[in-house]
Amino acid sequence: MAASFEISNLSAWYGKRLAIEDISLSVEPNQVTALIGPSGSGKSTLVRCLNRLHELLPGARAEGKVILDGENIYDDAVDAVSVRRAVGMVFQRPNPFPTMSILDNTIAGFKLNGRKPKAELQEIVERALTAAGLWDEVKDRLSAAATSLSGGQQQRLCIARAIAVQPEILLMDEPCSALDPVATLRIEDLIMELRERYTIVLVTHNMQQAARVADRTAFLLGELAGDPGRLIEIGPTKKIFTQPEDKRTEGYITGRFG
Ligand SMILES: Nc1ncnc2c1ncn2[C@@H]1O[C@H](COP(=O)(O)OP(=O)(O)OP(=O)(O)O)[C@@H](O)[C@H]1O
Ligand SMILES: [Mg+2]
Repeated sequence: MAASFEISNLSAWYGKRLAIEDISLSVEPNQVTALIGPSGSGKSTLVRCLNRLHELLPGARAEGKVILDGENIYDDAVDAVSVRRAVGMVFQRPNPFPTMSILDNTIAGFKLNGRKPKAELQEIVERALTAAGLWDEVKDRLSAAATSLSGGQQQRLCIARAIAVQPEILLMDEPCSALDPVATLRIEDLIMELRERYTIVLVTHNMQQAARVADRTAFLLGELAGDPGRLIEIGPTKKIFTQPEDKRTEGYITGRFG
């Protein structure tokens, strides 16, 4: 069984500005949990708090609890670097290391986290690229530059890089927003396959995408412009899209605002 998150009373600031307020929700193992909500509602801020990336920005901080494997990732005794290893992240724009080959990108996480024997690395590369649905397309050109790949392939390479280090949870912040519809569907298929092994948190603006791939969906909203983002509701995706509890969720999913 993959890992889960139990998030309670999580708030995050940029300097004095409160960006998300008092968010509590659980992320279930081997499920895709989608985060939806209008621009500025705090979706990216929330996911960046889940692997302690948020605090790297000057003046940024978070308060509250995020329990992973029975341990609060914000406990003083917990090392932020080990949290980032356990909780992988894929960003909106494919961001392979531009000067590195496909192979070196795939194992970039090991270069940072200590060396491994060559034979083992080869195995890891094949496994990660296969899991990311890219192996057949790149196996004969592993030393080519990552930038020689299409956008969709680059994003699958970033997914391979994230899973190569065998994280427990995978965060994806609008992973398809820079991709065409065909590349998007490939990533969606991949997300559904990865769910067998990983727990996934997926930020998306695309309602159809949430409906297609997410087991549960959370709706975030900052009521007025500049308000901190709050969790309005979370539930099984089907219920959120057909019978939401809150009028504001209904308004958003039917396109009345946002
Ligand atoms: N680096 C930053 N410095 C200051 N404020 C920020 C920063 N990043 C985000 N914010 C603010 O925090 C709030 C939440 O932003 P966030 O990026 O988390 O929203 P989002 O839901 O991901 O939006 P989008 O859908 O546009 O990606 C917004 O009010 C935003 O202006
Ligand atoms: Mg965002």
